[in-house]
Amino acid sequence: MDLKGRTAVITGASSGIGLACAEHLARGGVNVVLGARRSDLLDAAVARIRDAGGRAEAVTVDVTREEDVTRLVGRAQETFGGLDIMICNAGFGYYGTVEETPPDLMHRMMDVNFMGTFYGTRAAFPIFRAQKSGHLILISSIVAKRGIAQMSGYSATKAAQSAFAESLRSEFAGSAVHVSTVFPISTETEFRHAMERDFGHSVSGLGPKQSMDDVAKAVVACLRRPRPEVYPHRLSRALAIINAVAPSFTDRLVTKYGRRRKVGA
Ligand SMILES: NC(=O)c1ccc[n+]([C@@H]2O[C@H](COP(=O)([O-])OP(=O)(O)OC[C@H]3O[C@@H](n4cnc5c(N)ncnc54)[C@H](OP(=O)(O)O)[C@@H]3O)[C@@H](O)[C@H]2O)c1
Repeated sequence: MDLKGRTAVITGASSGIGLACAEHLARGGVNVVLGARRSDLLDAAVARIRDAGGRAEAVTVDVTREEDVTRLVGRAQETFGGLDIMICNAGFGYYGTVEETPPDLMHRMMDVNFMGTFYGTRAAFPIFRAQKSGHLILISSIVAKRGIAQMSGYSATKAAQSAFAESLRSEFAGSAVHVSTVFPISTETEFRHAMERDFGHSVSGLGPKQSMDDVAKAVVACLRRPRPEVYPHRLSRALAIINAVAPSFTDRLVTKYGRRRKVGA
């Protein structure tokens, strides 16, 4: 896909991977519509993109509300005349054993991480179906392929996105409607800080890391040349393969390289 002049909606674009995607796409000539709850951060991002010559809009949304997500996509149509790319990225994590995971928190995480994706897809697909083209990108996580200790609830929400995408892909196989799932590994964003801010968990990743720019570059490359699955950290694809053939061995491997609560937290 030639990206210049296309229009993209990105959820969770006030920080981290979503913001990096918006900035990379805008630099490539894509009109971007940024959605999240923190309007001040969205407005600042839009101002930076416009100052640099890009075209951007900000919409304050909570992705757990379908009407908000519909309004977000509507803004892309009103302002830029259509929608070519939908990036469902908004999400948060929770660290703790299953007994430490309150059911209302689990509902909330499913609402943001999965239902937000579902609403984004429901808003975008009528447009993609009518124009017979479009690209849906879901920002999942490597933990969708292989869950890690103390993040069972989070891993489940990310696996839900991945299974959802596989099913959609088979519905549109062979057409110009593309569905891609992105599986980042530990990425330096506000993700850890949000867990600390909202739940008091101070958690650090022990294994390899990547930057949010690495993830954004992998997303842009996938938009240019669509692929079903994107592993921004190339070696992480091996984890999915090893898990399929040797799940017990992988149990021990991910325990060594998963996330850990910092001492005293
Ligand atoms: N960082 C990692 O290690 C990592 C690894 C693999 C996958 N991921 C995935 O990458 C995605 C982005 O996370 P990140 O790492 O970039 O973390 P982040 O910097 O904390 O970004 C999360 C974004 O989601 C938005 N968000 C949260 N709840 C929302 C809601 N109810 N409605 C609308 N927006 C909401 C936040 O904006 P507001 O607070 O302004 O609403 C923020 O823009 C997530 O889906 C996460 O699961 C992250």
